[in-house]
Amino acid sequence: MKRDTKIIHAGVEPDPSTGAIMTPIFQTSTYVQTGPNEHKGYDYSRAGNPTRTALENAFASLENAKHGLAFSSGVAATDAVIRLLKPGDEVIAASDMYGGTYRLFSKLWADFGIKFIYIDTTQVENISAAITGQTKMIWVETPTNPLMNITDIEAAAVIAKNAGALLVVDNTFASPYLQNPLDLGADIVMHSATKYLGGHSDVIMGSLMMNDDELREKLFFIQKVVVQCRGP
Ligand SMILES: Cc1ncc(COP(=O)(O)O)c(C=O)c1O
Repeated sequence: MKRDTKIIHAGVEPDPSTGAIMTPIFQTSTYVQTGPNEHKGYDYSRAGNPTRTALENAFASLENAKHGLAFSSGVAATDAVIRLLKPGDEVIAASDMYGGTYRLFSKLWADFGIKFIYIDTTQVENISAAITGQTKMIWVETPTNPLMNITDIEAAAVIAKNAGALLVVDNTFASPYLQNPLDLGADIVMHSATKYLGGHSDVIMGSLMMNDDELREKLFFIQKVVVQCRGP
């Protein structure tokens, strides 16, 4: 599928139980099990729901990603990513990123022993200079909200790889229409899908996209266990 077709059709398959062309809204919390853990792929809607699967596949497709995950907001998606870390880990982050991301990092997660180092990521040499043995993640927002500062994703990806750190890109403001960070070497793309992906100012929603299977499993676990997912 080319981009314009993907934007309309990605993720949507005819419903296997009825043949409905458009994915129905599955308004159910729980799914029947014929025996312990014997089901058709869904057991409880916090863990998964066919409507959400269609959305997550659409998210993945838009970013040329293998996997997509949906969250109840962009901040919930961000929160899930930070839960990959442990006390003592360091995150290099852009100094002028979205205020809610800064608030989550500095006013909440910093109290749990994760260290955030805020720098001007538009100069990638600043990222290199901030790397330490504890750097586990580089968080880039490009363009930034609201100053529209740009960071070179490809260069940041090389630095992250050499440091053994994950590169996460908040791609909310460019949208997948203009920029696909995974294709440029990023490990995780995050969106406030409330913005261009939602498109109509009628929903709060977040997404994560990634190619790595292990990363997807870890983030899916976090989504299922603790962070609010996007329900039916
Ligand atoms: C760049 C950026 N990232 C993250 C967020 C947070 O997303 P949400 O409001 O969907 O939680 C926003 C919201 O304005 C944003 O502009």
